[in-house]
Amino acid sequence: MHISERERDLPKAVLNDIMNAVEKDKSIISLGAGEPDFKLPKPLQDYIKKVKDINHYTPSGGLKELREALSKKLMKDNKINVNPDNIIITSGSQEAILLALTSTLDVSERVVVPDPCYLGYISAIELVNASPVSVPVNEDCDFCFDPDKLRRSVLPRKTKGIIINSPSNPTGSVFSKKLLEQISDIAVDNDLWIYSDEAYEKIVYDKKHVSIGSLNGMSDRVATFQTFSKGYSMCGFRVGYCAGPPNLIRAMNKAHTYTSIAPSTLSQKVALKALSLSPRYINSMVKEYRRRRDMIVMRLNSIGLHTIKPEGAFYTFSNIQNYSKDSFRFSKDLLNKAKVAVVPGAEFGVNGEGYIRCSYATEYHKIEEGMNRIDKFLGKKTL
Ligand SMILES: Cc1ncc(COP(=O)(O)O)c(C=O)c1O
Repeated sequence: MHISERERDLPKAVLNDIMNAVEKDKSIISLGAGEPDFKLPKPLQDYIKKVKDINHYTPSGGLKELREALSKKLMKDNKINVNPDNIIITSGSQEAILLALTSTLDVSERVVVPDPCYLGYISAIELVNASPVSVPVNEDCDFCFDPDKLRRSVLPRKTKGIIINSPSNPTGSVFSKKLLEQISDIAVDNDLWIYSDEAYEKIVYDKKHVSIGSLNGMSDRVATFQTFSKGYSMCGFRVGYCAGPPNLIRAMNKAHTYTSIAPSTLSQKVALKALSLSPRYINSMVKEYRRRRDMIVMRLNSIGLHTIKPEGAFYTFSNIQNYSKDSFRFSKDLLNKAKVAVVPGAEFGVNGEGYIRCSYATEYHKIEEGMNRIDKFLGKKTL
């Protein structure tokens, strides 16, 4: 029977093949996964054993108590002033991104995305029959948008929004307040939505995370996406949310009724509990990520894979051009011959070619062993 063209055109993520290979061959060291390796914080593990009243749907926007707690969190942590009614809880932030795109884009309208970018954006834009427009973010600009290039990519009346992702997957870049202000100016001048994916807001090392939704005059045009997945090591619970202006959240709520109806009640209750955790749980995870980051960046550079020190998230994005121009071939060789799984940069966009992404959401000693293997493997090749 017929499968839609839209579905057939969706790219098949190489990441799935890599993770399948890792599953089959236990000798492989995986630097591929995009999820924290930490256990669920102990108070949440205990809470799950006794949580009650989880068998009913919640309202499609999510539990009122959770939205109220998030409204306070957004004010305190992100300086975003948003009423609980202007927050929608979703099954992961990925669902929120899709609902926001569904709610704001008509067929063939354009959305600007960074290249390289998180795999989910392009497919989500295409799923709503809109068009992604890639703007390169280059190593020489610390993988941040160049405001002039960004402005030039906007077509009057056709371009409806810009996706920003700081801290970034796959590059680890963190946008400065100044850059966010420049992006805001472009959005205001061209009447654009800003879709601000802040999945890694809690995982920053050197710079402070700034939410573009907190900047003057932006509250009517910014959709802020955050999640419990990365900061709290809660990927499997599938709880994310979006904060935005009333017309957007109303539209997303409507669409939500026709997708998952509401996120899991159990997961929302655990998320509410997570918001009351002592900051030391997140701080200790970030401290460990920093320790791994410092080591992996040093090792990659000494191997000849030039790597900028990421300022957030848990990924390095290394330049492989000393060895290869083909990131798929290179990653395949590392997987099959060195038994280390990394993700080819081209998986994240044309401009990601010539790079590989390593995740350091993996135990320290495994990262070290992975680096030893890559070093040994590449040592056989002449630079
Ligand atoms: C940049 C970015 N945004 C969003 C997501 C989706 O996360 P979730 O749906 O678990 O909230 C991910 C997951 O890897 C991500 O890396």
